Amino acid sequence: MAYVVTDSCIKCKYQDCVSTCPVECFHEGPEYVVIDPGECVDCDMCVDYCPVNAIKKDEDLTPDEMVFLSINKELSRIWPVISSKGTVPSDADEWVGVQNKIKYLEGVYTSKP
Ligand code: F3S
Repeated sequence: MAYVVTDSCIKCKYQDCVSTCPVECFHEGPEYVVIDPGECVDCDMCVDYCPVNAIKKDEDLTPDEMVFLSINKELSRIWPVISSKGTVPSDADEWVGVQNKIKYLEGVYTSKP
């Protein structure tokens, strides 16, 4: 089992989650963060800190969200570790509640999930 960052995070990237992680398993890209499933210790510390409920247990993912399992795995190999909160996108609040933001990962995520 591992925790997975899902669609809600994209373009919001509030980063309230990252400093809660005891093993620094978050990795940051331009508009999204991911969890390295190989490092995640399943502690669930981060889950309640996300204001848009983007972090889910892998076994609780809906069929449409299953793609984020491989996206987290793949992008955590590419993107650098983030262990403290950085700058939140200036338009983050405008993206809260927007669905299907996965399309905005095009260009940074090129391999097939
Ligand atoms: Fe993303 Fe939520 Fe963390 S928006 S950066 S998963 S606090």
